[in-house]
Amino acid sequence: MSKVKNEKLAAEGDRELEWARVNMPVLAQIRKDFERDKPLKGLTIGTALHLEKKTGILLETLAAGGAKVFCSSCNPLTTDDRVAAALAKQPNMNVFAWAGQTKDEYYSCLNSVLDGSPDIVIDDGCDLIFAIHEKRKELLKKIIGGCEETTTGVIRLKAMQKDGALKFPVIAVNNAYSKYLFDNRFGTAQSTLDAISRATNKLIAGKTIVVAGYGWCGRGIASRARGLGANVIVVETAGTLGEHESGYHRALEALYEGFRVMSMDEAAGLGDIFITATGNKNIIDKQHLQKMKTGTILANAGHFNNEINEEALNSLAKGKREIKENVDAYELKSGKTLYLLSEGRLVNLARPSGQGHPIEIMDGSFAVQALSVKFLVDNRGKLKPGVTSVPTETDNLVARLALESQGIKLSPPTKEQAEYANSWKEGT
Ligand SMILES: NC(=O)c1ccc[n+]([C@@H]2O[C@H](COP(=O)([O-])OP(=O)(O)OC[C@H]3O[C@@H](n4cnc5c(N)ncnc54)[C@H](O)[C@@H]3O)[C@@H](O)[C@H]2O)c1
Repeated sequence: MSKVKNEKLAAEGDRELEWARVNMPVLAQIRKDFERDKPLKGLTIGTALHLEKKTGILLETLAAGGAKVFCSSCNPLTTDDRVAAALAKQPNMNVFAWAGQTKDEYYSCLNSVLDGSPDIVIDDGCDLIFAIHEKRKELLKKIIGGCEETTTGVIRLKAMQKDGALKFPVIAVNNAYSKYLFDNRFGTAQSTLDAISRATNKLIAGKTIVVAGYGWCGRGIASRARGLGANVIVVETAGTLGEHESGYHRALEALYEGFRVMSMDEAAGLGDIFITATGNKNIIDKQHLQKMKTGTILANAGHFNNEINEEALNSLAKGKREIKENVDAYELKSGKTLYLLSEGRLVNLARPSGQGHPIEIMDGSFAVQALSVKFLVDNRGKLKPGVTSVPTETDNLVARLALESQGIKLSPPTKEQAEYANSWKEGT
């Protein structure tokens, strides 16, 4: 039932999966409970997640809980073909993914996942949930709920909810503390810089790196780039963020963190490497590209490949050629050359240079996913359509298990401290 690039890669994929499995202790614990209790028995779960080794362990955990799994990637470039081949051999696993897909192939794989008629969906970027609401409405009556992995997906879902378009409950896994504080910040930081190094083999120290967006991802990238010796400039926007925050707050935070802060118009001519992580579009636009120095490297860590305006890049260029894997050289009519990494798609996940977040990080994020799926099943019929939060107990449990898996145990507050924390009468 699966469709992968090359079934013969399965043995290599098994080794990759084994390495992830032994390094994901939190999911291992959940898997043990799932194996015993079978909370997902009889259910079908459809997923659109970057299909690589850590995701494989989440999918195995869901299957261990009794689910039938139909999976694809959420990006045409991010499938590890070895892992896809290995998973396709496992029972109750239907895989539709390979690296280097065309747009049509990508959407047809999402459709194959939906052909499995899922009870629960796990999405990363909201493409799967969007497809259900736009093209596969017949599935709506069966779906218990969904989980969303990333910031951009949650933003799309909230926009759907505002328009009254979202027809089932979706847990915003991204917005759990035990997800975004670690995944978006430390995970994106390490994997983005790692992927840029692998793709270019260039030194980070001494370079001027422009980080666009000082959100959870940008904070991490800026801090780790500085740690490697880069001279970091942060670009923010005057836009609003949710109800209480704006780009002004983020820019001020970056300034007090010791970074230079400016607009993209000012930064464009200064950077050696640009990394976008905003979730918005055309952050690097035509006028910025025109100002850049020859040899500038452009990379995107935001969800979609629209943060760097590729159309503008093409219009300025005489031609484009792949200089090496993950690196395209754009020779501009002005005589300069700019290098775009991974076609402007998630640089830290686009293969082969992108390996995705470190394993321990995804252990936490996917533990939240697995427990959120169980929460949807346990509360079947009780949750209203719309975006809903990860329960606090789940969020705390994952952080505690992650700490304990690293040998760290905290002591609880004493009775006296617990009372003091909740009292309003006691002052000095
Ligand atoms: N690469 C990965 O593995 C990975 C992991 C997690 C999230 N993401 C994606 O990264 C993106 C950012 O996620 P986040 O959690 O940091 O979001 P966030 O909302 O915390 O931060 C985004 C920041 O970008 C800023 N911004 C928006 N428009 C801008 C513009 N025109 N110029 C400069 N700054 C601008 C915002 O003010 C905000 O501070 C999203 O698309 C998210 O889905 C990627």
